[in-house]
Amino acid sequence: PLPERFRTPLAIPPVARPALSNSAGEHIVITQRVAEARLLPDRTTTIWGYDGIFPGPTIRARRGRPLTVTMRNELPVPTSTHLHGGVTPADSDGFPMDLTTPAGYSPAPPHQHGAGARVHEVSRDYRYPIGQRAATLWYHDHRMDFTAPQVWRGLAGMMIISDDEEDALPLPRGDRDLPLLICDRAFEADGSLRYPMRDMSMASPGAGGEFLSGLFGDVILVNGVAWPRHEVANVRYRLRLVNASNARRYRLGLSSGAELVQIGTDDGLLAAPVTLPEVVLSPGERCDVLVDFSAYPIGTEVTLRNGFGAGPAGEIMRFVVTRKAKDDSRVPARLSRVPVLTRADAARVRQFDFRFGGGRWQINNRPYDPAGSLAAPRLGTVELWRFTSDFHHPVHVHLGHFQVLSRSGRSPEPWEGGWKDTVDVRPYEAVEVLVRFAGHRGRYMLHCHNLEHEDMAMMANFDVV
Ligand code: C2O
Ligand code: CU
Repeated sequence: PLPERFRTPLAIPPVARPALSNSAGEHIVITQRVAEARLLPDRTTTIWGYDGIFPGPTIRARRGRPLTVTMRNELPVPTSTHLHGGVTPADSDGFPMDLTTPAGYSPAPPHQHGAGARVHEVSRDYRYPIGQRAATLWYHDHRMDFTAPQVWRGLAGMMIISDDEEDALPLPRGDRDLPLLICDRAFEADGSLRYPMRDMSMASPGAGGEFLSGLFGDVILVNGVAWPRHEVANVRYRLRLVNASNARRYRLGLSSGAELVQIGTDDGLLAAPVTLPEVVLSPGERCDVLVDFSAYPIGTEVTLRNGFGAGPAGEIMRFVVTRKAKDDSRVPARLSRVPVLTRADAARVRQFDFRFGGGRWQINNRPYDPAGSLAAPRLGTVELWRFTSDFHHPVHVHLGHFQVLSRSGRSPEPWEGGWKDTVDVRPYEAVEVLVRFAGHRGRYMLHCHNLEHEDMAMMANFDVV
């Protein structure tokens, strides 16, 4: 039976404490390990967690303060950690073959050839310059062929970058600024996570063939708690929504019918707020919204709903207005300076076709070639990338942030303004994005963020030159 909804309080992941913080920046140490967690109200679940928790600790970073994260691997398998949305040097980007193995691990991982493939034993440092604007990013496992089962077991956490521009705005802060990492999971009766690997020893990759379209769970977790409830004051809150699901998309709105005020997207604030009844989030996407509880009498319950889900999957979490408080937040008319890219800015046009063929998910008729590369954009330029598809594919580009230009000739959805790194490409659509390649040269990748598709080879490398 599914757990009872809206009984368990929401948990807020603890903030990672720096081991060192000085004029040169911050240093955080995170240990990936096996642990017991309380995802369900009445049972414990064995997870693989950053610091043994799910989600992992929230990393708070500051623009202009370089951050080093030492990742220690005490799990039974190799890992690679990607900071999703990070403008990160290639050798710290969490390339799928840039692995950290547990102590004494054998045999050697496959595909260890081509630029970027490396093996570190036990631990390694990821260097994040944090030259980018305030945004809600997330970090997660990215191991070649095994990203889906390893994220499913718990290897995901959030990073929140702040900056002066955002600090100057009268937005809700402190406990009125809620990071909400949403994902679905399936469980066995004993509370263990159910992921139907073809090979349960995880020596060879892939979910069973019946999961070609991606794996769905029947339990919705927010910050690792099944259908939580959260008591709020009758004031404005900021919800940083992260879709960390393997394959599930959400259409998020409030049961009260009240509108959401969107202030940000994947890679930071919008130029100005947008008022919307609902937002759609595909795997990997983020959305930053303000919700105002001031219109509700004490005792009101407001449910965050999922218009794409039937039955229990149609609900995410519940807010209960329990107290009065003073609100000094406001919705600013202007949020951030966001340059608007146009077609004329594109130095070139490239097409990436996401389609099933030859028994695999492919890009441009090829399964992932770990040593190959499909494009070589120049550092400092903007390119128009056209994504076409045969199915739902949330397309994610590493390093390069983009603006959505069009969907099959029509305007983008109202919630996908500003800078993004993931776009929901729907069946038989052609989505055009303008990608800016800034920050670093080197080998990066684009891929479908449906994690089962990703593990079934729907990835490609590109080189920023
Ligand atoms: Cu969030 Cu390459 O992934
Ligand atoms: Cu896909």
